[in-house]
Amino acid sequence: MPSKQFQVLILNQISDLGLQRLPAGRYEVGKSVASPDAILVRSADMHSMQVPASVQAIARAGAGTNNIPVKAMSARGVPVFNAPGANANAVKELVLAGMLMAARNLPAAQRFVDGLDPAAHDLDEHVESGKKQFAGFELAGQTLGVIGLGKVGCLVAHAAIQLGMNVLGFDPEITIDAAWSLPSQVKRAGSVSEVLKRSQLVTLHVPLLDATRHLVNADNLPTMKPGAVLLNFSREGVVDDAAVLRALEAGPLARYVCDFPHGHILRHPKVIALPHLGASTREAEDNCAVMVAEQLRDFLEHGHIANA
Ligand code: MLT
Repeated sequence: MPSKQFQVLILNQISDLGLQRLPAGRYEVGKSVASPDAILVRSADMHSMQVPASVQAIARAGAGTNNIPVKAMSARGVPVFNAPGANANAVKELVLAGMLMAARNLPAAQRFVDGLDPAAHDLDEHVESGKKQFAGFELAGQTLGVIGLGKVGCLVAHAAIQLGMNVLGFDPEITIDAAWSLPSQVKRAGSVSEVLKRSQLVTLHVPLLDATRHLVNADNLPTMKPGAVLLNFSREGVVDDAAVLRALEAGPLARYVCDFPHGHILRHPKVIALPHLGASTREAEDNCAVMVAEQLRDFLEHGHIANA
């Protein structure tokens, strides 16, 4: 008897390397399939989508699952797979870029250079006088607070130690001793407030849950050090934007670096906003797609459940 062909509906572009794990013949994969057995998604918001009754599993080619109605799917017995750690290195590298962009005023410096006239006779003088406004500070010797010590948080902590920074770590869920391969030099903090008070730069690596919504807010932002830098490469809702704007205007915050371009935050001169680029590398896209395609295959063909 020929074996069943599975239909997989894809809602976003998924790397070819991942799709190759769902071979034609055994799988029909596409943006419109008649009766999908599974859905493969990256960032599409599924909260208002009518998920067809035929769907037995959903796979997210990324770490966070907040774009998927996980509770409703669980109630239907539909597992939601994700790819924890598969894009962690990509996110870590962008966090390092974010810290450097903020510390050395790189976006503003680039805008300054873009505005120069290459043919101007006084170009050199213009550069010499203009560059003074972009003098920054070095990361070495600064204290970096890392809130959230999962895979990304731990990789960021390692990299920061390599850069000569002091690292203060806190995770609302796991004890620092249980944190994923954390370097021994990381100091422990007892709360989010302590991290915010004691660090010059603070980076957030928690998922968006009820417990983490507005984790950084109007109560604790004013307690940060003068000239502090806040980096949010996790999820927009983890930070209260209105409180950030107030802290940028009235102090103590000098910069907010985030991976979400939205609202009033977007145009503020002290904000560096990126278009959700954390996981956007060839390597991370391949890793995530391969991991979740294999999970789907194992589930559909053998009933195995991993990372759901
Ligand atoms: C993640 O949750 O890992 C990212 O949102 C992935 C992505 O950008 O697609």
